[in-house]
Amino acid sequence: MKDWNSRYAKAGTDAGTRMFGTQPCEYLREVLARTDVAPRTALCLGDGDGRNGTWLAAQGIAVTAVDLSDVATDHARHHDAAAGVTVERIVADLADWTPDAGRTWDAVFLMYLQCENAVRLRAARVGADALTPGGWFVAEGFAPAGAGGTSMGPDNPDLLYEMTGFLDILQDLDVLEALKGRIRVNEGTRHRGEARVARLLLRRPEGP
Ligand SMILES: C[S@@+](CC[C@H](N)C(=O)[O-])C[C@H]1O[C@@H](n2cnc3c(N)ncnc32)[C@H](O)[C@@H]1O
Repeated sequence: MKDWNSRYAKAGTDAGTRMFGTQPCEYLREVLARTDVAPRTALCLGDGDGRNGTWLAAQGIAVTAVDLSDVATDHARHHDAAAGVTVERIVADLADWTPDAGRTWDAVFLMYLQCENAVRLRAARVGADALTPGGWFVAEGFAPAGAGGTSMGPDNPDLLYEMTGFLDILQDLDVLEALKGRIRVNEGTRHRGEARVARLLLRRPEGP
């Protein structure tokens, strides 16, 4: 696993900078712009230095965020304060974190959670289990480039988002979007250029 603490420590928080840009993921914003998506609570898994969590909180959503890196979480708290919002931030390893019994959220975000596939799928399952009826599961991450192609993101394939893995373990959720394709990313100095990504928008059915 990467040493996320030293990477975030190097990035610092000067002039409002964040490791992956000051704006939230574009896909997250697209999903929130849908008229049928209006979460009052959200769980951001692997929120890093908080570009997504802070933005969601600024939309009036009560946000809980989890990340392994205490340095990133400190930076995120700094940005939350600067934005005048409060986010419940938890430093924990998603390899074994579970929410308190009975806690639920209206939306769960798994944006660029760069960790081993088994940990990412576990986190996805934990998040899905914590969704309220009708709740939204949103994910985006770098996907394998495909034969002969190139893409941005980690070289280690275990760290990339594989659509099939998610869809296999989240069969109890309805699939609204499951997209794999190329996008142009312009998010900070580290996410810039053409990338092959996987995007998922799933919904927990309203009924039992
Ligand atoms: C590429 S960064 C993305 C951060 C944020 N989601 C964003 O889009 O800006 C990946 C994040 O995953 C977190 N991470 C990696 N492995 C983790 C784990 N096992 N448990 C919790 N967080 C983890 C890292 O600390 C880092 O903040």
